[in-house]
Parts: sequence; C-alpha cells; structure tokens
Amino acid sequence: MKTINLLLLTLLCIYRCSAIHWLGLAVNGSSVGWNQTHHCKLLDGLVPDQLQLCRRNLELMHSIVHAAKLTKLTCQHAFKDMRWNCSSIESAPHFTPDLAKGTRESAFVFSLAAAVVSHSIARACASGELPSCSCAPAPAEQAGPDFRWGGCGDNLRYGLQMGSAFSDAPMKNSRFGPQAFRLMHLHNNAVGRQSLVDSMETKCKCHGVSGSCSVKTCWKGLHDINHIAADLKSKYLAATKVIHRHMGARKQLVPKELDVRPVRETELVYLLSSPDYCAHSEKHGSMGTHDRQCNKTSNGSDSCHLMCCGRGYNAYMEKTVERCHCRYHWCCYVTCKKCERTLERYVCK
Ligand SMILES: *[C@@H]1O[C@H](CO)[C@@H](O)[C@H](O)[C@H]1NC(C)=O
Ligand SMILES: *[C@@H]1O[C@H](CO)[C@@H](O)[C@H](O)[C@H]1NC(C)=O
Ligand SMILES: *[C@@H]1O[C@H](CO)[C@@H](O)[C@H](O)[C@H]1NC(C)=O
Ligand SMILES: *[C@@H]1O[C@H](CO)[C@@H](O)[C@H](O)[C@H]1NC(C)=O
Ligand SMILES: *[C@@H]1O[C@H](CO)[C@@H](O)[C@H](O)[C@H]1NC(C)=O
Repeated sequence: MKTINLLLLTLLCIYRCSAIHWLGLAVNGSSVGWNQTHHCKLLDGLVPDQLQLCRRNLELMHSIVHAAKLTKLTCQHAFKDMRWNCSSIESAPHFTPDLAKGTRESAFVFSLAAAVVSHSIARACASGELPSCSCAPAPAEQAGPDFRWGGCGDNLRYGLQMGSAFSDAPMKNSRFGPQAFRLMHLHNNAVGRQSLVDSMETKCKCHGVSGSCSVKTCWKGLHDINHIAADLKSKYLAATKVIHRHMGARKQLVPKELDVRPVRETELVYLLSSPDYCAHSEKHGSMGTHDRQCNKTSNGSDSCHLMCCGRGYNAYMEKTVERCHCRYHWCCYVTCKKCERTLERYVCK
C-alpha cells in the first residue's frame, strides 16, 4: 500500500509539483501588483516555503517574475541551434516529460533558472529597486594602483541568499518527489549559481580630464545572462549521468560510469537519458525536428545533416525586404529604399 501511494505521489508530482513550476509566473506574473500577501497564492505550484518567502518578501516577486521570463528567453536563445530547442518551456507551469523528469535538459533549465533568479535579485539590489538590500559593499581585495573601489556593485551575496532560498525550497520538501530527483535538482541549482559567481567581473569607469582615465572607479558586476547560459550549455553538453546509491553511510548521487568518485561541483548531472529528439513523441516530450530550419553550410548542431537526423531537407525561397541605399539629409532625416532579397532556406523533411 505504501509503495503504491509513493508511486502515485511520484507520478502526480512529475506532472504537478515540478520544482520549476514558478516559471509559469512568466505568463501572467506581470499583471499582478505583488503588494498584497494573497497575491502569493496566484500560482498554486509554489511550495509552502516559497509561499512564506513570497509573503515575507513581496518586493522580491517582481525580480522573480522577471527571472521567469528571462529564463525562458535565455534558454530558447541558447538552444535555438539544437534539436531540443527549449520550446517546451513555453507551457510552464505544465511541463512535458523532457523537463518534468530527471533529464539532461531539465538539468540545464534548473541550473539556468537558479542562476537567473539570483542574478535578477542581485541586479535589483544594485538598481535600488529593493528596500531590503542595496549595492554590494566594496570587495575585500585590495584596489589596484590605478583604481579605487566605488560605484555600485551587484549584490551577489543577497542574490545568492534569497535566490537559493527560493529555488531550492521545493527540493527540501519530501513531498516533491523521490530523493534522487531532489538531490539532482539541488546539485544542478548549485552549479547554476556557481557559474554566476564565476561570472563576476571587475567593471570600471574612467574619470579625469576629458576621459583621460587618470582616475578610475571600479566595482564587481555580473556578466549578462547569455554569457552564463553559454557556460551552462557547455556543462550541459558534458553532463554526467548519475545513479543514487550508497557511498559510505549515506545514499548519494555518483557517476554511473565506473569511476567511483563524488560528483563535481562544476558538472551538471542527470538521472534519465534523453531521446535523440529526432522524432515526435509525446511520451518522451520530444517535438521532433520535422519542419525545423537547418543550415546547409554549417557543420555544427544546426547543420542539415544533424538537425534533420539524416532524413534530408527541403529548400524553399524566402523573400525578405530590407532598408537599403540609405541617405542622410541635412538636417536631420534619413531616407531609405526598400530592397528585396531572396534567400534560400532549408527545412527538415
Ligand atoms: C496565472 O496563471 C496561473 C497558472 O496558469 C493561474 O492559476 C492563475 O489563475 C493566473 N492568474 C491570473 C491573474 O490570471
Ligand atoms: C497595489 O498596486 C496596484 C498597482 O500597482 C495599485 O493599484 C494598488 O492600489 C496597490 N494596492 C495596495 C494595497 O497598495
Ligand atoms: C523549436 O522547435 C519546435 C518544434 O520542432 C518548432 O515548432 C519551433 O519553431 C522551434 N523554435 C525555433 C526558435 O526554432
Ligand atoms: C550557416 O552557418 C554558417 C557557418 O557556420 C554561418 O556563417 C551562416 O551565417 C549560417 N546561416 C544562417 C542562415 O544561419
Ligand atoms: C567545422 O567547423 C569548424 C569551425 O566552425 C572547423 O574548425 C572544423 O574543422 C569543421 N569541421 C569539419 C569536419 O569540417
């Protein structure tokens, strides 16, 4: 009886209580004022700890809604040349098996979402949108001989603190699903945030006579999110399949391959192998690549050979209209002509 209950709960959870349910906020989260605690109930997928965090920190919710939208856009941008192109994230808060199970793709999306939440909060602190935080204090390391610390750094510390409280909350709740999945997602969330930490860079501004840069002010700022997504994408490509088994006294995630070692803090991990995403299959959450555009001259993942899985492709002509022969008229307007261009495009059979 207990096993059946657990199984039911797991099945229900796979489809209902996905730990990235909150990505659904991208759909209608902006239409909410987020100034009354009952707004927190809008998305029934928030787990109790997330609800509490929302009620106590309503002001954070604008950053979280922003993060949900940015996660979607960034994921689709990063995977536009791949067979799996992150289009299924559109259906959040309902997920198809490609994202609802412990796949490599879900590893990427979880890590990205966790990084983006902390990024949004850290930036919101620096831009003065949050009453609970402000610019980061000056870094502990010595300023260089040619600059001093100043300006307003992104508040990474606060971003990591609140971001992890929010993104990790579902995995701390045993109702979310089997321990192996919770460990996997927790690990990948941490990998995402580590990538964010590694992306901190020193940014400077010059002062002095007509930009002579005799005085420089510097601060620590976060890289833009596409840079972090590119890092996570290469981690996705090199992700490690793991299993949940005893390592000493506790059950842990360990690489499935023979090398007995703990998982590294820099690697994304997954539990279930993905299909090749060539053919349409609802069961596997694969859209297939029929009618996807491919690139005849590329030799990467968007090449017609790889994208179309060897099925071949059809060519068609596409007319585009561009502005051209633009001329500047004194003073002050520009006139352009319209030029038609015909491009050959290719789509997978
Ligand atoms: C927002 O979307 C969620 C999930 O799709 C839904 O439950 C909720 O009622 C929506 N809220 C509004 C204000 O449209
Ligand atoms: C909440 O915000 C909305 C719009 O942002 C505003 O119209 C409303 O008066 C606010 N409510 C409270 C209780 O502050
Ligand atoms: C992503 O793939 C889906 C399914 O094949 C397709 O409908 C969609 O147009 C693709 N999106 C982009 C941006 O290529
Ligand atoms: C196709 O791939 C080539 C080589 O990678 C690139 O130079 C070109 O811009 C791509 N074309 C399109 C339409 O993306
Ligand atoms: C594929 O393209 C890259 C550069 O985009 C090039 O370095 C590499 O040699 C190419 N591989 C093949 C097999 O053509």
